[in-house]
Amino acid sequence: MKIAITGKGGVGKTTLAALLAQSYSDLGRQVLAVDADPSPCLAGALGFPSDLRTRLRPISEMDELIYERTGARPGTVGGFFTINPRVDDIPERFSVVNRGVRLLEMGAVDIGGSGCICPESAMLKTLFTHLLFRKDEMLILDMYAGVEHLGRATVDFVDAMLVVVEPTRRSLGTAAQIKSLAADIGLSRLWLVGNKVRNEEEAAFLKAETPGLPVLGLLTADLAVQEADRLGIAVYDYVPALRQAAESMAQLLINQIPS
Ligand SMILES: Nc1ncnc2c1ncn2[C@@H]1O[C@H](COP(=O)(O)OP(=O)(O)OP(=O)(O)O)[C@@H](O)[C@H]1O
Ligand SMILES: [Mg+2]
Repeated sequence: MKIAITGKGGVGKTTLAALLAQSYSDLGRQVLAVDADPSPCLAGALGFPSDLRTRLRPISEMDELIYERTGARPGTVGGFFTINPRVDDIPERFSVVNRGVRLLEMGAVDIGGSGCICPESAMLKTLFTHLLFRKDEMLILDMYAGVEHLGRATVDFVDAMLVVVEPTRRSLGTAAQIKSLAADIGLSRLWLVGNKVRNEEEAAFLKAETPGLPVLGLLTADLAVQEADRLGIAVYDYVPALRQAAESMAQLLINQIPS
């Protein structure tokens, strides 16, 4: 199953990605979590120990690797380079594994087609498509904020796109925008996940104002989430209520998506 997590900046995409990744791993699934944010922080949310974290570097920053594979230096404009470089060894070679979750940092990827025609973009696009083709049991993509990353490959291979929202009209506005962009490219397997929900009123607001998307679940607002971050502990371990909510969402998706 391939799950992409999107939504407005700061709504909790990374927190949800980490919670779901660990939930699936603890259910016995093989999980590949991909951090596609230009400033990666999924390792922290997963509570990866620092010795593993220091071994991680976003693929987008691996200039030598990009040069080796595409035949051109990142940042060069014009000239020739391979547009479909070899990438099949990258997920295993440059990822780290902790408690059953394999984590790969990609860095910013523009798969929507608008990005520059340059070696680093060719490399990341090819890698992204490769990840979507792989037969991983569970692929969890922590996308960066915004909607411009929705490309064709997403439609064909992503089984579920989760749109994270806070109980605010602004983040619901972004969700509506994502829904309409997704519809434009033919993607309809979208669910809403409410985060930072403080009370019944906010829960009711989210359910009433969803832009026509089914609600997969809600995560409560909890100061312990920030505390976990400060202490370097996974939210999954530190905040039982969020762990339980994520576990039921993980199960719901398994039930709703034919494998
Ligand atoms: N349920 C919650 N309760 C309280 N704080 C939360 C909750 N979920 C996330 N946060 C806090 O909100 C902030 C943003 O969370 P997170 O990094 O998961 O969002 P994001 O959507 O991935 O952000 P970005 O767009 O920057 O990638 C963090 O400081 C996190 O600790
Ligand atoms: Mg994030």
